[in-house]
Amino acid sequence: MITKTRPNFRGQTEFKLDGIVPWGRRLDEYSAFFALKDILPRARILDIGGGPSSFACEAAQLGFDVHAVDPIYACEGRVIRERFDATAPAMRTGLWSAAYRFKWKYYGSEEQIYRRRLEALNLFLGDFEGAGRERYLSGALPDLPFGDRAFDLALISHLLFLYGDELDGDFHILALREAMRVADEVRVFPLVNLDGRPSSHLPDVMRALADDGFEVGTELVDFEFQLGATRMLRVRRV
Ligand SMILES: C[S@@+](CC[C@H](N)C(=O)[O-])C[C@H]1O[C@@H](n2cnc3c(N)ncnc32)[C@H](O)[C@@H]1O
Repeated sequence: MITKTRPNFRGQTEFKLDGIVPWGRRLDEYSAFFALKDILPRARILDIGGGPSSFACEAAQLGFDVHAVDPIYACEGRVIRERFDATAPAMRTGLWSAAYRFKWKYYGSEEQIYRRRLEALNLFLGDFEGAGRERYLSGALPDLPFGDRAFDLALISHLLFLYGDELDGDFHILALREAMRVADEVRVFPLVNLDGRPSSHLPDVMRALADDGFEVGTELVDFEFQLGATRMLRVRRV
């Protein structure tokens, strides 16, 4: 499902990760990344590339009509946990060795981040393997298994732009066009790559979506972990 466009040079950086990792966040984090306070209860929300995040499970408990889509949902829960366990040491080592590149106010420590990721994984798996199974659909950008405008809002957390070395500019444009086909609004966070540099894809992506006739802009959010990653992309149908 991952479009590899050029050799992976990430071995030269502090994060020695094998592809796009199954590392999931919680509802409070999504709320901060995406400034979700303005979202009305009963809104139809899609978490694209939701992975082992507990956002869908926790938001559903609050009454939102929420679904998540990810290629990893084709796997059994046991396999998703194995992938998480296999990835965690490299993530933890990366966070340690690159600690100077992060702002620690929100999380406190690497230990706390790991604890949160485990909480998210356990909440997600409880839902995925239990009563919430129908919330999770296997699928991947740039072809989502949903009808036109099936959702009010689509969220894309820690996939586009962050993995900009793996996913090229054309993929980003196709992916966001597809997200805008299935939702009236799309929000994306963060807008930097794994090295913390502003994504080089962003200007072309914004121009292409504006040329399509969408309202496109970036907005400051009340969250910063990767230094300088304080904005989300917001694309709306006008
Ligand atoms: C780093 S995780 C982020 C999970 C979650 N969004 C969060 O922020 O907690 C990235 C996720 O993107 C998924 N992914 C990879 N390629 C994808 C694609 N083409 N379309 C949708 N999801 C994809 C991976 O399976 C993985 O679960």
